[in-house]
Amino acid sequence: MSPERLVLVGFMGSGKSTVGPLLAARLGWGFRDLDTWIEERTGRSVSALFRDGEEGFRRLEVEAAREAAGLTHHVIAAGGGAFARPETRALLRSGPSATVWLRCGLESLLARIPLDGSRPLAGSRETMAALLAERESSYRLADWTVDTTTAAPDEVARRIVEVVFAIRPPAARGATDR
Ligand code: S3P
Repeated sequence: MSPERLVLVGFMGSGKSTVGPLLAARLGWGFRDLDTWIEERTGRSVSALFRDGEEGFRRLEVEAAREAAGLTHHVIAAGGGAFARPETRALLRSGPSATVWLRCGLESLLARIPLDGSRPLAGSRETMAALLAERESSYRLADWTVDTTTAAPDEVARRIVEVVFAIRPPAARGATDR
């Protein structure tokens, strides 16, 4: 059965919030960013919520995922830690969802993540490398993986449509995707 919801997961800076709207436009679907939903719902920024403790933010993230699990014909961008939490992951995978890990090499991630305080868990190279290593086994549980290390956002969106909906241009037929 063709999925009716696409959920983008992966580390901070992997392109979820940038690729998501492009992907939604290609499909004629809506777009929902879980962090934005939380900020709108609470009237507070993610960094302000983290100042009161990460667990409070994670509880809101579960609620955001539960709400998103009721949506169809939507692309969902999940925050970088969402898929590493079993309860949140189960909600993101539920129903007619296809989950896509936007895999990205550490150097590209570091180059893309501004250390401006907007991402409370962003830190030194060592911190980020350790967090990425810790989360990789969770990201691998996604249905599909698309590498974003060097690809432009629109190319990533095109590739996601191709792999998830098995649409291939004639010249590429017969090529392996997985
Ligand atoms: C987080 C990633 C952020 C945001 C919060 C926590 C994480 O989202 O949810 O700062 O745990 O990696 P992005 O991946 O969109 O930056």
